[in-house]
Amino acid sequence: MPEVVNAADDAAFRVQATAMGYDPDDKWVGGYVPVAWQEVRHLVAAYAGDVHDAALLEFGCNYAASSIVAATMGACVTGVDVDADTITLARRNAARHGVAGRIDLRHVRDTRVLPFADASFDIILCISVLEYVAPDQLDAVMGELKRVLKSGGLIIVSGTASRLAPREVHSGRWLVNYWPRVIDRRLFGRKTPLQRGANPFAILRAFGNYENLDLADRGERWLAARAAMGQSPAKLCMARIIARLIRPFGWSIGMTGPSFSATWRKP
Ligand SMILES: C[S@@+](CC[C@H](N)C(=O)[O-])C[C@H]1O[C@@H](n2cnc3c(N)ncnc32)[C@H](O)[C@@H]1O
Repeated sequence: MPEVVNAADDAAFRVQATAMGYDPDDKWVGGYVPVAWQEVRHLVAAYAGDVHDAALLEFGCNYAASSIVAATMGACVTGVDVDADTITLARRNAARHGVAGRIDLRHVRDTRVLPFADASFDIILCISVLEYVAPDQLDAVMGELKRVLKSGGLIIVSGTASRLAPREVHSGRWLVNYWPRVIDRRLFGRKTPLQRGANPFAILRAFGNYENLDLADRGERWLAARAAMGQSPAKLCMARIIARLIRPFGWSIGMTGPSFSATWRKP
């Protein structure tokens, strides 16, 4: 597992996290690398196998926990995020874990235009990020992700809160996914709309001409990754049954939960 190896960078990370109003050891801040090691590592290994020297883009990298895990697995990682402070803290996180040389972390204010050439990456990771992209930007963002992915490359979407879920995953609010955003302003006087899940139909549509690996192998890699993450056999058995039921409609395992996931290969 990636360890904190650099005391000076660790101190700088802690100072900055505190200045940003966070507990540096919080599970979702400095404590997220062990979580990503237990989850993202298995996801990447199940779908991509050996990622040594693979060019991997983490889209919406936050504090770079998943990027640090991928770099520890041997990938050459690029991470992008729309939040400049987040990227500064992510750089410190990578430095304290001793992998700064393997991760290029960039602040990109508008990710509808990514600063990379066509076909730059073998693997793109989108973990818990597409639901944060403004809905009117989602198609353009996914178009960019498709542009920078190499032919034969993988896009791994995981942990994405679903607009179909009765309870919105991040806020825990019931039924908010089912009313339009305009109601937030008209009924509740909110300037910024409430958090909602991403629409899985929009994402399925965007990757419609890609090979859905979860359909191709009937969810075997998805199940292997979750088993390695420690999910219970009962939950996995239930997922297998649901996958059989939804397959005739072109839906793969992982598309129906409160958070959805799928992995595609570019033709
Ligand atoms: C929950 S965090 C992602 C966690 C991270 N991928 C991981 O595995 O640990 C969501 C991130 O998405 C970023 N984000 C929001 N909108 C974005 C956009 N349009 N393009 C790229 N990143 C975005 C946020 O700044 C935030 O850092």
